Order: sequence, then C-alpha cells, then structure tokens
Amino acid sequence: MEVIVLKDYDAVSKKTAEIVANLVKQKPNMIFCLPAGGSPIGMYEYLVKMYQNKEIDFQHMITFDMDEYIGIGHDNENSYAYFMQEHFLKYVNVSPDNIYYPDGLASNVQEMCTAYSEKMFAMGGLDLAITGIGDDGHIAFNEPNNYLLPRTHVVNLADSTIKANARYFDNKEELVPRKACSIGMEDIMRSRTFLVIASGKHKAALIRKTFTSDHIDPMWPVSFCRLHPNCIFIIDEDAASLTDKKLLQSYQK
Ligand code: PGA
Repeated sequence: MEVIVLKDYDAVSKKTAEIVANLVKQKPNMIFCLPAGGSPIGMYEYLVKMYQNKEIDFQHMITFDMDEYIGIGHDNENSYAYFMQEHFLKYVNVSPDNIYYPDGLASNVQEMCTAYSEKMFAMGGLDLAITGIGDDGHIAFNEPNNYLLPRTHVVNLADSTIKANARYFDNKEELVPRKACSIGMEDIMRSRTFLVIASGKHKAALIRKTFTSDHIDPMWPVSFCRLHPNCIFIIDEDAASLTDKKLLQSYQK
C-alpha cells in the first residue's frame, strides 16, 4: 500500500486523473470501476480536460459503475448512472457499448447483482477501481457489518450514509433510497489498482482511524484496503492532519 499526501483537493484530483490517464495509455481497453460522490468530481473534471486537449482517448475503455441506489432508474437525476453521465461520460468518447451499470429497477435485484459481478470477471476483472471513504468507513457501499460480502450485493444503507447523502435530495433524508447495490469486497480486493481519495478536514478522523487501528475490521471496511497489494491512498494535507506524519511517511514511496 502507498499513501500520497498532496496540498489540496485540486492536487488530489489532478494526481488521480494522471494515474488514470497513465493506466489508459498502457491498456486502452482497461476496465475502470467508476465511483460517484463528491470526492471524485475534480478527477472527472481533469479527465474531461485531458480528453478535450487530446491527451487521452477513452474509445476502448470499459466502465462499470461501483454502486447504485435501488428503486430509481438510470434516468433519475439522483441515480449514479446519471451522475456518471453528467460528470464524465457525456463529455468523453467511451463507447456506449462499453458502459455497464447496475439496474436499480431490476425486478430481481439479487440476480442482477450476481450477473453484474460475473460480467466483470468474465471480461477480465477490474483493472482500476476508485473510491472515496464514507463517514462510517464504507468503501463503495460496503457498509460496516459483522461480515463483508464478496460480490455485488444489495445493501441496507447505514443511517450515517442516508444523512450524508441527503444533500443530494434537497436535504430531505426521507427522500434518500434505503437500499443500494454495491460491488463487494472481493471485487475490490481483486482490482489490479485500487485508489482511495480523501480531501478535507472532515476526512481527517477517518484517515486516522484507518491507519492507526490495530484491527482489519469489517465494522470499518476501508481498513481492508491495507491488505490490497496495489492500493494507493491519495489524500490532501487536511485529510492527513490528524494522523502521525511519520506513520504516513512509512507508506510513502
Ligand atoms: P464523498 O462520499 O466522496 O461524497 O465524501 C464518500 C462516500 O460516501 O463513499
């Protein structure tokens, strides 16, 4: 595992986009698992700029969304499929045939989830996945529990997640879907490169807990990233501010 500490959100976004761009150059048909949320928005902006400047070509790239709400469709503006269009896909040249996302309106969501992970692996597995960190330590929508699930699955969103995401629903918690589907921890652990991005003072306690806990703890899912053979945390100085500098330096290359 590696930790990169940078000045601010803009630097985190730029660095993350550069890593994505290098991977796409090395393997134009790579499979990229796309995150939603506030953390990756700056990275998408950099990727769009790079595309517009003809520095990167997404023609052969394959995308799988990391998670999705259950009960709303891809044309609902709060769905993550819609988010990916608005922040990334509609500006770049990923072929529509190469875009995959979970169907939040599937009649049998469990079957849909099983088929989603199977499709990912049948196509060669995730080359790259990126996540932010939820207030309860979730990655993708793998919420804290006594055990974690390996593959794409249905999840009951934690109260803290519903509260945090109410900002996208007119600040009305009652409007936030209670269920979602998410890729699982095995899907994440088998990704060839896994990036975790965090920026801002509100992430500082989450980073400290992740690096100082002596437990790899299903009640703190992001702690499992410490086991991933090629995981890079890209965080800014505010997010790093509560964690011992020497400890973080020990993860720097
Ligand atoms: P954020 O969300 O990127 O909006 O902070 C992270 C998450 O909940 O996974």
